[in-house]
Amino acid sequence: MAKKITDNISWVGKTDWELKMFHGNELSTRRGSSYNAYLLRGASKTVLIDTVWGPYDQEFVARLKQEIALDKIDAIVMQHNETDHSGALAELLREIPGTPVYCTAKGEAILRGHYHQDWNYIKVKTGDTLDLGGGESLTFVEAPMLHWPDTMFSYYNGCGGVLFSNDGFGQHYASESLFNDEVPESGMMYEAEKYFANILGPFCPMVTRKVKEILAMNLPLKLICPSHGVIWRTNPEKIVEKYLLWAEAYSENQVTIVYDTMWNSTRLMAEAIARGICSAAPGMTVKLFNAAKEDKNDILTEIFHSRALLVGSPTINNGYSYAIAGLLEMVKGLKLKKKSGAAFGSYGWSGEASKQLSALLAEAGINVVDEGIRTLWVPDETALAACEEYGRAFAAKLA
Ligand code: FEO
Repeated sequence: MAKKITDNISWVGKTDWELKMFHGNELSTRRGSSYNAYLLRGASKTVLIDTVWGPYDQEFVARLKQEIALDKIDAIVMQHNETDHSGALAELLREIPGTPVYCTAKGEAILRGHYHQDWNYIKVKTGDTLDLGGGESLTFVEAPMLHWPDTMFSYYNGCGGVLFSNDGFGQHYASESLFNDEVPESGMMYEAEKYFANILGPFCPMVTRKVKEILAMNLPLKLICPSHGVIWRTNPEKIVEKYLLWAEAYSENQVTIVYDTMWNSTRLMAEAIARGICSAAPGMTVKLFNAAKEDKNDILTEIFHSRALLVGSPTINNGYSYAIAGLLEMVKGLKLKKKSGAAFGSYGWSGEASKQLSALLAEAGINVVDEGIRTLWVPDETALAACEEYGRAFAAKLA
């Protein structure tokens, strides 16, 4: 069912309450998501902005037909052509072949690469406009690597100013409500940060540049309409400010300790280190996560807003645990800046894990502050006291 946003803009997307994983299994979406598509009726032109994920293509087209005769759609704007937004385009264009598809040059290449169709592509770049009649238009702003090379935003100068931002400012957050002021803020904002950390995090310099470029245009802005989650209607500037903050080596006063453990020795070390940090830095938030049990993307979100990261693994087969290996590969991909870290772990004989993890942390761009701490076999009182002392020393290095 289409939902009215303004007199001439309707949401025609799909809310996906079932979605629990995205990008294959790379990203957890525990609150579901939505694929937002928008129908914009100008004085002389009607434009569809984006479509939905492929499994919902027929449903999308059928519901769109209830909202508008498809031949009344004058143009389709594809802001980004990952399949969660372009997945219903082929089904739609079977009904209205020849309809112009506005996209960036990279967008055309991606659509051709995905669907192998010679559609009526209209390539656009920053500053190009689509005249909607009545003095209103859509202006396109290329936003490469936010988060794909084809991404662009579209600014509508009607309705007080509407920015269609595709993945930018989005959240994997399913809701029957359309607007940010209609949902509980904490869960939705958590999803906005998780989205930023896990999807846009590697592209922070581009985020900063693009947001500043758009702010410098001094455009009126009533609504930000992303392609996932709720629309920013009340204080849309808040998410813009958050993006500027998150994109600048963001950190809070938090240490995140991530570990894996076989027979609890490394867990006991993690807990003792945490006690040490807390005793030396009472204002510090300290959180512990077992990488093999906790959601990896929630852990990454915690790391994203931490100032320091401690990683622990027992030595297993001259290496470290599977869960920690996977997590550190993801940490490396996020290109985090200005974070400190170190490694720790228990061992029985060879004991290489902490040294290997220190090297991985350094490779991931983490400032490794010391060589970490190891414990032979099960930590006794003396070993736990050493871990607590290590935690205190680690906290002191963050001061
Ligand atoms: Fe929501 Fe990058 O697709």
